[in-house]
Amino acid sequence: MQGMSGSRITRNGLPYVNFSGINYLGWQQDPQVLDAFCESVKRYGLSTGGSRATQGVCEPHFRLETLLSEHHGKDKTLTFASGMLANLGFINAMTAKFNFSTSSGIDNRDAVLVFDRDCHWSLWKAASHLKYGESLMAFKHNDVADLERVLQNVGDRKAIVVFESVYSSDGSVAPIGEILDVCERFQALSYIDDANGFMVYGEPQRNFYEEFQHLRRADFIMISLSKSVGLEGGAISANAEYIDAFEVLSGTSIFTAAIQPPTADAAASIIEQLKQDPSIMDDYLCRSLAFRQRLLDSGLQLNDTPSYITSVLIGKDSKAEQVREQLEKQGFCVPIFRYPAVKPNQALIRLILHRYHTDAEIEGFAQSLEVLLGDSDPSRLVNEPLLVEMN
Ligand SMILES: Cc1ncc(COP(=O)(O)O)c(C=O)c1O
Repeated sequence: MQGMSGSRITRNGLPYVNFSGINYLGWQQDPQVLDAFCESVKRYGLSTGGSRATQGVCEPHFRLETLLSEHHGKDKTLTFASGMLANLGFINAMTAKFNFSTSSGIDNRDAVLVFDRDCHWSLWKAASHLKYGESLMAFKHNDVADLERVLQNVGDRKAIVVFESVYSSDGSVAPIGEILDVCERFQALSYIDDANGFMVYGEPQRNFYEEFQHLRRADFIMISLSKSVGLEGGAISANAEYIDAFEVLSGTSIFTAAIQPPTADAAASIIEQLKQDPSIMDDYLCRSLAFRQRLLDSGLQLNDTPSYITSVLIGKDSKAEQVREQLEKQGFCVPIFRYPAVKPNQALIRLILHRYHTDAEIEGFAQSLEVLLGDSDPSRLVNEPLLVEMN
């Protein structure tokens, strides 16, 4: 890409209206965020300059960790350079054998991880050393009865249930309360990957309010800073005892680079702004739902859940590639999720509206999709004027 990623991008010299981005609120185009970032650079520099183990982290990391602990109602938070590293660190810690001293240590190798089948690649990758059916089990996506069945099979061993709030490919939302009820009944620990839900849901005026009221009941809450906050980094919040042990056991926070200090500072400022002004997210969600409705009105087959992640179901992997190419020719950049990200020949286009998409861009894109995938009259295609406007 040339220049910044936002509602539009230039890739290999060609301009696109971008529906592939995940930094959908466009914070990196916000002059106030950029100014605050530059001030922080002058104060803290560009890097922590050493690992947590050798030197420690900077004030912005503690600012961010304190803010996240308060937000999640937990004692402590540990930050990581990315959400992926937070997930890897969690699984490391939960399956580790480690001596803290010659007389104290921990052996988590008897633990059983129980994943929702649709968990993110980073979680499955981190657990790939575990034997499936013994230390690693899975329940059907969002299926509470199946989770119960799996936990019955775990017996007396320590179980850790791992699931997401909002799933990236189909935007489905977990029955958070019911899953946590089952965890509590079976005395299983719970880890919720809230990468996609963080700062989005949980307010009474928004969808899924009831579900997100339960989030704080999870033993561990993981977030990514690359989505609603639009920067880079990850974090896990939990009680102090867990986080203190995790600092060492995870390995992916203490023995590696931290989030860049000004990024941690800017992330804290963005989170504060989103908390102080809920209308930013309310407006975004409102437009995102209108976009979804526009696609439904075109007769497109969409994912079931009305979250801000909209997937257009295509089917054959080869057809999905053709659609992507066609859209690219018309000036739209979209991501295709195909096998192995989803089941073979259940390919989809995963769309996330950007806060700065104009109504004309949205309408132009909807009409293009309608022509390619819905029942419509091709003469209505409006991409020509759009491309002129972009140049
Ligand atoms: C559910 C989920 N977990 C974890 C991650 C990884 O987060 P990050 O991009 O911060 O590494 C993602 C990002 O795509 C995600 O969607």
